Amino acid sequence: MARPKIALIGAGQIGGTLAHLAALKELGDVVLFDIAEGTPEGKALDIAESGPAGKFDATLSGTQDYADIAGADVCIVTAGVARKPGMSRDDLLGINLKVMKSVGEGIAAHAPDAFVICITNPLDAMVWALREFSGLPHEKVCGMAGVLDSARFRHFLASEFNVSMKDVTAFVLGGHGDTMVPLVRYSTVAGIPLPDLVKMGWTSQEKLDAIVQRTRDGGAEIVGLLKTGSAFYAPATSAIEMAESYLKDQKRVLPCAAYVDGAYGLDGFYVGVPTVIGAGGVERVVEISMNKDEQAMFDNSVKAVKGLVDACKGIDSSLS
Ligand code: APR
Repeated sequence: MARPKIALIGAGQIGGTLAHLAALKELGDVVLFDIAEGTPEGKALDIAESGPAGKFDATLSGTQDYADIAGADVCIVTAGVARKPGMSRDDLLGINLKVMKSVGEGIAAHAPDAFVICITNPLDAMVWALREFSGLPHEKVCGMAGVLDSARFRHFLASEFNVSMKDVTAFVLGGHGDTMVPLVRYSTVAGIPLPDLVKMGWTSQEKLDAIVQRTRDGGAEIVGLLKTGSAFYAPATSAIEMAESYLKDQKRVLPCAAYVDGAYGLDGFYVGVPTVIGAGGVERVVEISMNKDEQAMFDNSVKAVKGLVDACKGIDSSLS
């Protein structure tokens, strides 16, 4: 059987890391697409040349032509620009919205059967716009945010408790940004919920609150350290986990920005929720019950995402 084909739209920091991880894990053959001439070709060749020592079989290529993504099984989208000093949120939104238009049209024309994972920020609005521009089925287009935010939360918790992060599960809902909702009640160490661990004296409520805040600020913390860019290893690894679940029909339960129609009182809206990802794409949205405080935080997050979507509609009237 032919290897799956993985198209990476955007060959920047995350795109390059995605290509490397996909090759190392032998998930399939990789095509890197970017408007910057030479960048996808150079990264593809460099990673391909690491194959003999890295001991993987995968072909990698770089392109500026959407025709080369033809028949891709998975498309992971990182194309766009990051917010630069002096740029307003609307400036960024306008620029990346245009990018989503060209990417959506490229995918629709050449890889309409692909499972599409969007990473470009502002994530929840961009995944919505990408779906609108591509016209692909909603269950085949989702956004990577929850896996990353949960991974950050799990990492901080594992360090706090000095336990393996394999035994820490964590839950993050809502939009990707300041309003995300880390769900303490549903996060556990080997099945023991965090509030119980506070009672058991493993940590204090203050420390837990600080970890929740650090999770919310996780992206900004990395930007502050790197100064010239944003996180790429953890975002790429998170998207690869989602792609692998799709390609291998693993039916992993993963939080992602998914189209929610009916659950959570939403009617046709992209926001971060727990999902089941398998061969059908986002096969299920898992609806959990929330207490009053959690619901209020979730509502606030939905409101923030709605604001971004409305701003997109204001910029591009074809989306209204
Ligand atoms: N089509 C294809 N590629 C594009 C386009 C376009 N229209 N516009 C820009 N690009 C490419 C750039 O040439 C660059 O190589 O997208 C790439 C983006 O790479 P980086 O700037 O290195 O950004 P990266 O760190 O990979 O993050 C990508 O993910 O997490 C988000 O906020 C982040 O939106 C950003 C995205």
